[in-house]
Amino acid sequence: METVVSGIRPTGFLHLGNYFGALRSFIKMQNEADCFFFIADYHSLTTHPKSSELHTNIKNVLIDYLAAGLDPEKATIYVQSDLPETTELYLLLNMFSYVGELERCVSFKEKIKKHSDNVNAGLLTYPVLQAADVLIHNADKVPVGKDQKQHLEMARDFAQRFNYIYETEYFKLPVAYNFGNELVKLPGLDGSTKMSKSDNDASCIYLSDPPEISRKKVMKAVTDSGPTEPNQEKSQAIENLFQLMKVVSKPDTLTFFEEQYNACQIRYGDMKKQLADDIINFTAPIYKRILELRDQPHYLSRVARQGAEKAKESAVKTLKEVREIIGLKSL
Ligand code: TRP
Repeated sequence: METVVSGIRPTGFLHLGNYFGALRSFIKMQNEADCFFFIADYHSLTTHPKSSELHTNIKNVLIDYLAAGLDPEKATIYVQSDLPETTELYLLLNMFSYVGELERCVSFKEKIKKHSDNVNAGLLTYPVLQAADVLIHNADKVPVGKDQKQHLEMARDFAQRFNYIYETEYFKLPVAYNFGNELVKLPGLDGSTKMSKSDNDASCIYLSDPPEISRKKVMKAVTDSGPTEPNQEKSQAIENLFQLMKVVSKPDTLTFFEEQYNACQIRYGDMKKQLADDIINFTAPIYKRILELRDQPHYLSRVARQGAEKAKESAVKTLKEVREIIGLKSL
């Protein structure tokens, strides 16, 4: 069976964009591969989050993961920092990564522009830590979005250099998991093309939003002044509402509003009401589960502990073998 590894940084609650962009595929993948899904808390330290906030975010991401349908009996779900073996491999992989290539990495260049007051070494070596996450389980595949493709290429480069220098084929060279057309990029409610919490909270629907909040957000979504001629091209904001409808509503509902739009008879208020209903319906079982899990701290810590134990088995084995290859054997 193939091994799949992926991580998500605990920066807040997960939203519908995360769900359709990745989570839904993870839920399928857990039935088909040996999956390791972890919460990348070490990675989120580059921006120095408050410790209480970090802790809460880790817990919330775990809750969202489980509520959405990740199954700890099928996949190994763990918190990255519960697996300190990763950091030893990170140190070792640092010897196979060159400062020049790290500095040329697109995400690094973007981050130093954005946070010029905090260009720490953790930011520079972020791709090395990510490579360690993947190589610690000697993964075959990594499901990542476009923005992470370069990091994955770097992981392959580090692994290949290691293999070359030690004349081994120890590390597999991990490749991107091919989602085909499974992934749907959801737009925001604010007219933007991507649902993202970095823009503003009102533009995304969190899995943990209570129904009345989801409804408020949808009712406030950006629209335009309406079509003035039949079959008029849609503005981005309206296109977005239709795209959201496409994933949560029945095909008939979508067709109905398409026809209304094309005939210039659409009432955006009605459309939003329907969209809000359908979003609430869609997220209801997840939301219900989130509320239940919030009251089950013991269950959550058991899941995290069991995940860490399973991850450790695989990590300890890798690290032992890597140490031996390098010559770090006990005397
Ligand atoms: N860098 C990824 C992100 O920001 C998170 C991540 C960390 C990751 N380690 C990983 C993703 C390993 C895939 C595999 O989204």
